[in-house]
Amino acid sequence: MLPPFERTPLDNHYFLHMISKPSDLNALPAIHPNAPRLPYEELKHGVNYWIVDQVLPNAEEISERCFSRDKWEYGAPYQPESWPGMRFHGALLPDELAHIETTVKKLVGKDKLWTEQPPGGLRLDCNVAQLVGAKETTPHPHTDSRKLCRYACVIYLSPNPAPDSGTSFCRLRYPNGAIGGNIVLAPHNNLVDALKVKALPIEAWYEDMRVENVFNRMILYKANLVHCATGYFGQTLRDKRLTTVFFWMAED
Ligand SMILES: [Fe+2]
Repeated sequence: MLPPFERTPLDNHYFLHMISKPSDLNALPAIHPNAPRLPYEELKHGVNYWIVDQVLPNAEEISERCFSRDKWEYGAPYQPESWPGMRFHGALLPDELAHIETTVKKLVGKDKLWTEQPPGGLRLDCNVAQLVGAKETTPHPHTDSRKLCRYACVIYLSPNPAPDSGTSFCRLRYPNGAIGGNIVLAPHNNLVDALKVKALPIEAWYEDMRVENVFNRMILYKANLVHCATGYFGQTLRDKRLTTVFFWMAED
């Protein structure tokens, strides 16, 4: 079996060797009756995820504004933070953010979206620009906390992204190869709650679907679906994976 992560010989792009979902799921063994489970929700465009290309009318300007930013916060591996690379809050200006929020409301059919704030004076990472290079992290399948959001959104803003560096959606993969679910539902808030495990290796997931990284593409999805970045790339500031990320709460 391939190691979970490998550097390509051509560039500085780390990509995910998540195990692909087999074509014949009926040939897989059953889930052990005592194993923890997740529910499964089939991925359907327009139902639980949405892709909009050319979403920002001035994406080049925004991308340039981010890349030429002076002041960034530093995450892993530079600081003891759970998030990788560099970031700053307020990536989109108010009118740009309003355009995205209007677009998202229309897509999900909600009149009202809001940003929840975590307790303890922490700040939700909504409308944040993230710049992450090949060597700064590896993909980590996760769900975004149901306490804080119902929808998550990423806009890819690297002008020349590496292939296979968009977003992957995942299904649980058991040690015997059985395929499981992909979503965290109430009363659970995240995977740790739902599965009663702190962390899972990358081999614990099948890749269900992959969305390519395309400049100015928005991927919006139900935040309780298991997802991760497919891969990261670049070593110098302007070559790294630039995205803006958003999290919204909505009425159920
Ligand atoms: Fe996420």
